[in-house]
This record gives sequence, structure tokens and C-alpha cells, in this order.
Amino acid sequence: MQVIITKDYAEMSHVAGVIVEALVRQKPDAVLGLATGSTPVGLYEYLVRAHQKHGLDFQQVTTFNLDEYLDLPKAHSQSYHTFMRENLFSHVNILPDRIHFPDEDYDAVDETAEAYDARIYRAGGIDLQVLGIGRNGHIAFDEPAEELSFYTSTVTLTPSTREANARFFPSLEEVPTRAVSSGMGTIMQAKHLLILANGEGKREAVARLLDGHRVTTLCPATLALLHPRATLIVDEAAAGR
Ligand code: PGA
Repeated sequence: MQVIITKDYAEMSHVAGVIVEALVRQKPDAVLGLATGSTPVGLYEYLVRAHQKHGLDFQQVTTFNLDEYLDLPKAHSQSYHTFMRENLFSHVNILPDRIHFPDEDYDAVDETAEAYDARIYRAGGIDLQVLGIGRNGHIAFDEPAEELSFYTSTVTLTPSTREANARFFPSLEEVPTRAVSSGMGTIMQAKHLLILANGEGKREAVARLLDGHRVTTLCPATLALLHPRATLIVDEAAAGR
């Protein structure tokens, strides 16, 4: 795993932005795996600037988001559809039919979403997957557990994740209890993982990645240590410096 430690959040976002921009310039029809949450906001700001000021072209780019809540309307202010529209999609020239979210392939009858994996496969696979890390080491909504789903599937959110996300909702009760999440296999098949983490709250999970000696489903982020091309960009606070 390549590790880059930056001074602060702004520098973390800048370094990540340079990597994503370079990919899109080199491969205009790149397939990007995208994450939501506070972590990638600065990266998306970078990409919006690169588009608006330096002509970075998203017209042929395809995106697959990692996860989405279930039981929340797409248009809800806290849905990940809304998050992505507000932070990236409405500010760049990406085509709406090249944007994908896993809830769109959720099958309520058998409660799976494996059609999402097939869709990613048909698109040629994900060239670069942006990832944040949960305080508990989760990736997407793949929560610490004895077993993790390989394919995209429905998940029940852990109390700690619901509490962490409650800051975006009027009350904890309104945080959805279920989501559709890309599986660990889906994520690990991306050609390049770009993992971002900032702030003291991520120190414990980041320490496991920096240590690099153990892989465990009890900290799903550690599975990235098995990936042949993973880049970890963390600020000094998350790295414990
Ligand atoms: P955050 O969440 O970016 O809001 O810290 C990351 C995550 O939970 O995966």
C-alpha cells in the first residue's frame, strides 16, 4: 500500500484530486467508484474547480457510487443521490445516464443488488475507487463482522454508524436502518483504491492500515492491504503525527 501523509485535510483533498484528474485526462472514459460522507467533499471541490477552470471533461466518465440508504426517497436532502448531485454531479458535465447508485439495482423480492456488480462488470470495471473509512473501520456500509458480503447487497447499519450519521438528520430515529452497499469483492476488484482519511476520529482504523500486519473482517478497511494497487492518503491527525 502506498501511503501519503499530508499536513491537513486541504492537502489530502488536493493530492487525491491530482490523482483523479490525472486519470480522467489520461483516460477520458474512466469508470470512477465514488464515496459519500464528509471525507471526499474537498476532493469533489477540487474536481469541480478542475472542470470549471481547467476544462476537465466528464462527458465520457461513468460513475458508480458505493452505497445508498434504503427506505429514504432519492430526493431526500440526506440521500446519497442528493449528496452527489450537490457536491459534484450538478457542477460538472457528467451525463445522467452514466451515473449509477446501487439502490437502483436493489431487488426487493430477494433483497439483493447483485445486478449492480453485473453493471459494473459490463462497464469494464472500476478504474479508480474513492473510499472513506468509518471510525470503526467500515468501508462503504460494509460493517465489521465475522463475514462480509462479496457482492453488492443490503445491509443493516450498526448503531455506531447510525450514531455517526445522525449529525445529518433531525434525530437519530430518522437515520435509516438499512442500506444497499457495494460488497468487499465489488470494491476489491477496482483497479486502483484511493483511500482517504482525516482527523483524529479515524486514528484507530488508520493505525491498522499503517501497521499493515493484519487483515481482518472486523476492520473491513484492512482488506485493502491485500489489494495490488492501493493508495492511502491521510492527514497528520489521522496518522497520529
Ligand atoms: P465520513 O464517513 O467521510 O463522513 O467520515 C466515512 C465513512 O463512514 O465511510
